[in-house]
Amino acid sequence: MASINENYLKLKAGYLFPEIGRRVTAFAEANPAAKIIRLGIGDVTEPLPVACREAMIAAVEEMGDRASFKGYGPEQGYGWLREKIAQHDFQARGCDVDASEIFISDGSKCDCGNILDIFGSDNRIAVTDPVYPVYVDTNVMAGHTGDANERGEYEGLVYLPISADNNFTAEIPQEKVDLIYLCFPNNPTGATATKEHLKAWVDYARSHGSIILFDAAYEAFITDPELPHSIFEIEGARECAIEFRSFSKNAGFTGTRCALTVVPKALKAKASDGSDVELWKLWNRRQSTKFNGVSYIVQRGAEAVYSEAGQAQVKELVNFYMENASIIRAQLTAAGLQVYGGINAPYVWVKTPNGLSSWDFFDKLLHTCNVVGTPGSGFGAAGEGYFRISAFNSRENVEEATRRITEKFKA
Ligand code: MLT
Repeated sequence: MASINENYLKLKAGYLFPEIGRRVTAFAEANPAAKIIRLGIGDVTEPLPVACREAMIAAVEEMGDRASFKGYGPEQGYGWLREKIAQHDFQARGCDVDASEIFISDGSKCDCGNILDIFGSDNRIAVTDPVYPVYVDTNVMAGHTGDANERGEYEGLVYLPISADNNFTAEIPQEKVDLIYLCFPNNPTGATATKEHLKAWVDYARSHGSIILFDAAYEAFITDPELPHSIFEIEGARECAIEFRSFSKNAGFTGTRCALTVVPKALKAKASDGSDVELWKLWNRRQSTKFNGVSYIVQRGAEAVYSEAGQAQVKELVNFYMENASIIRAQLTAAGLQVYGGINAPYVWVKTPNGLSSWDFFDKLLHTCNVVGTPGSGFGAAGEGYFRISAFNSRENVEEATRRITEKFKA
């Protein structure tokens, strides 16, 4: 009989969001009249921007005509999209990123996992705690860890605790780590990083030969003009960082699928013979072998984000969700709950009241308010006692959910 990748057996029972889904389904089946409002998974609810839709419809028409039909596209993405991204998202902010360093993909979640293909198995890996679970689970699957302890921490990973005490930004480690996952604006805490904080990481990475895997999926939600949107705004980052970005949250592409990863050509890591190898070449080789690109139609839709109309419509969408975040913050604060985040990020991170555990608070909200959030402990041991509320929903649902929570918790 064939054998399995035993590393999968080390994983905790279910990925966080399917586990939430199971509990909500069970509750809904038992309480068919309950009007459940889902503020759990960060999935968008508002329709695609008109500019993106029109571009996709035009692209479908092109595909229906022999003269303009497209077969396989470049595995790295079409040049016209990569150019627009390079100009608008990076060069306009003074980042030295060339279009050829941008790889279009079908999601940041996939890229965050797939990037491990090009790294050795002997790297010391650091993650914050709490953290987006994909960074941890993909390392477990790749065999980069031992087993989990009773707190759910995997042997071999370096956990960098983040809490209100350090503004949910990790201290620079004393020890040497080779790969560091950073996510700003942060999922799940909604925290942000200043240029000074990122500079400290870049300095650390350069002096230790480490690489920062920088997840900027939520950069569009930054409202403070002083905050950096990209790690490449920091001098020296080209020699030590890879950045992941997505169209999922800003342009509502969670179901449409389009993202990008920037691998600078200056970025190198060591081979076992001590030579320096360009990671761009490895990632290009990996993508050319295992990936056939994002559909032409979707890439045309993503390109439309950069048109004048597209920029205005995306801004409107982002503002809409951020207004939701501000309602959540205000209402929960009025209900006497301690809240963090939600100012430069679409997530509000709530301290559970009365010492309730994250899952107990989850069950309480589900059963008494019919509102779904995400238990902080699902993001790591240090998330215990916290709860994440997503701003991705209709205004009506956000107002109704926060009204129910306020009624329940207001003294
Ligand atoms: C979340 O809720 O954390 C996000 O939806 C996860 C993701 O983008 O994959």
